[in-house]
Amino acid sequence: MLTKPYSPRILLSLLGGSVLLIAVLFLSMKPDTINTGPDASIEDKVEALLKKMTIEEKVGQMTQYNGFWDATGPAPTDGDSKWKYDHLKAGKVGSVLNVSGVENVRAMQKLVVEESRLGIPLIFALDVIHGHKTVAPIPLAESASWDMEAIEKSAAMAANEAASRGINWTFAPMVDISRDARWGRVMEGGGEDPFLGSAIGRARIRGFQGKDLSDPFTLAATAKHFAAYGFAEAGRDYNAADVGTVTLHNVILPPFKAAVEEGVASFMNAFNTLNGIPATGDEYLQRDLLKGEWGYEGFIVSDWGSGSEMVAHGFAKDLEHAAEISANAGSDMDMESYAYAKHLAKLVEEGRVQEKVLDEAVRRILRVKFALGLFDDPYRYCNDKREKERIYHPDHRADALDMAKKSIVLLKNEGNVLPIAKEQKNIVVIGALAEEKNSPLGSWRFGSDDNSAVSFNEGLKTYTDQFKYVKGPDAFLGETSFFNHVKVNESDRSGFDEAVSAAKSADLVILVAGEHGYQSGEGRSRTDIGLPGLQQELLEAVQAANEKVVLVLMNGRPLALPWAAENVPAIVETWQLGTETGNAIAQVLFGDYNPSGHLPMTFPRSVGQVPIYYNQLRTGRPGPLDVVFWSHYTDETNDPLYPFGYGLSYTQFKYSDLKVKKGDAGVNVSLSVTNSGKLDGEDVVQLYIHDKVATVARPMKELKGFEKINLKAGASKEVSFTLSEKELGFYNPQGKFIIEKGEFDVMVGQHANDKEGLTASFEW
Ligand code: BGC
Repeated sequence: MLTKPYSPRILLSLLGGSVLLIAVLFLSMKPDTINTGPDASIEDKVEALLKKMTIEEKVGQMTQYNGFWDATGPAPTDGDSKWKYDHLKAGKVGSVLNVSGVENVRAMQKLVVEESRLGIPLIFALDVIHGHKTVAPIPLAESASWDMEAIEKSAAMAANEAASRGINWTFAPMVDISRDARWGRVMEGGGEDPFLGSAIGRARIRGFQGKDLSDPFTLAATAKHFAAYGFAEAGRDYNAADVGTVTLHNVILPPFKAAVEEGVASFMNAFNTLNGIPATGDEYLQRDLLKGEWGYEGFIVSDWGSGSEMVAHGFAKDLEHAAEISANAGSDMDMESYAYAKHLAKLVEEGRVQEKVLDEAVRRILRVKFALGLFDDPYRYCNDKREKERIYHPDHRADALDMAKKSIVLLKNEGNVLPIAKEQKNIVVIGALAEEKNSPLGSWRFGSDDNSAVSFNEGLKTYTDQFKYVKGPDAFLGETSFFNHVKVNESDRSGFDEAVSAAKSADLVILVAGEHGYQSGEGRSRTDIGLPGLQQELLEAVQAANEKVVLVLMNGRPLALPWAAENVPAIVETWQLGTETGNAIAQVLFGDYNPSGHLPMTFPRSVGQVPIYYNQLRTGRPGPLDVVFWSHYTDETNDPLYPFGYGLSYTQFKYSDLKVKKGDAGVNVSLSVTNSGKLDGEDVVQLYIHDKVATVARPMKELKGFEKINLKAGASKEVSFTLSEKELGFYNPQGKFIIEKGEFDVMVGQHANDKEGLTASFEW
């Protein structure tokens, strides 16, 4: 972990200002205090190297370029690529992103290490978001597992594959909390809740970074996007976030703070403004809070060109000004805006940016490079044999399958339509997504091979040949890619009637429908979060033709599907599950895996309810009243379609014996959970609290504990939680954590709105 090796001396030196600081800096610069031998501490090595660096070389470490690389090809002769090539050779680049594969990485590293004056190795970054070649479920899906061990393993699998391809730094996890299903990037996060989101962020950091960053099978991780990117107004990507301090500190920041505690190697700032200040130029967030109050010792990378975007925001007058603002605000590395590369050295010369600002940034960056072992061996991530061995390794496929089945959420199962008997005859599968091998890989899957997922149909085939596939109308048209909008089929009805008539004569219909994998992710906000195109109409026609329908959903965000929830007997949420999609879904449909996922985000009834989330504040008019003057809609209930934490199993769990006891460590809450059904299964026991009266109005409910348990049919288990001051306190409008005496309600249930949950109260 990064937190250990750094001396308090360096920490203090970063805080700036005091006499002690000057003394400390002076001491740290005396050559005879620096041991540069093999046993020297990372701090000593960093200081020794820093002393040798020119301003240009320091700026270089603070610069990150996008890849442009043809591994062994000739040096570029003009344009952008030539600029980058020359800068690499001159030691004016600290990192590149989007260069992967051992051959490419080795060649680029060689250029820098052998040709530049100091030979400081590059750190190679990539968005390793959910798997690499072997693709894991999208992060929102993984989050639905509520299984921290599985999530950690999945991240470790991704790190293992990506690191074997020369990568040593991932831009993940995204720990942005979001309450808005319109925002396409909810697919990349841990959902709407800060408690769950913090636990997931931690698990993913542990998975990526392992126990020791110098292990060549691990990656340095990044907590992003700091901060409030998930609160984009109206769910429109890149839009402004306007958030009060109570929400900022209690909802948005906790997963970032947890990431610091978990030793995350880097942070990424964000595209958005927060209360009018672009995150990249936000001194309060980066310097005062993260590096100051939280004592963070890693470095901050900007988001892609977010430095230069401050000009468009109207916060900087030109690129030079943007460089000045972001460097002074604490953004240590500039990704692709060229602001530092072009202007920072001159800004130092003119005294607009102090050299010590550069020193601080470079120290932070070098620390991570040393921790990764790049100075011991710049090619430690470049091993051809390892690369061949690790890609699509059977262990990775097994991890991806395990994660995929745990991510599936059973939303409805009226009349126990599921699981399907293995001897079931005459099944008809309908829907273009059923044969898709690309869409289920989801968005953000750099490094993966197109069409490499096991399709729904391929998975089903391993269970039965008693099914017929009738595609129905196309769901999407033409080629899709990360860079373009997906074209939805709104009008070509070819295949529609054939699908409906096949449904009529089937004994069981499985309709696979949802979003394309590239309909969520960056730049993919939607105002309509129903089934795209003709799929809703197809669902209604199929349901009218045959009542026995299983709706298999594939989507990257919560969808509003009130008609389906009302009319279709069985609904299975499968998100986008990656490489093992078809196999995982088949195991669940045929009961070889009992579904155990629970929603990490509320599913609304309509987009008009958004933002909708379980931990809302109360209003002064909760109603219902006979007159209209209470907080409600005239055309829709306030209730969600499916609440946060919701998910069914093929078995049932009963809760009893809730006990609440106050002790020295806090309040102990325990209960007994019994699997009262006929099948073994997993349950997610969720603990919510409600602080009844406080100096700041507190949410109706807040998740403060959860445990995923495995219970044999008929078995019982005691589950217990401890609520300490950490769980009972909150941040006030001044951003100060306070603990107040008073009465708390407790609810332990299977989801946030569980009417059958057990309740109690206690005084604190
Ligand atoms: C995204 C980041 C990502 C970066 C590099 C940006 O557009 O917002 O999350 O890490 O690109 O690919």
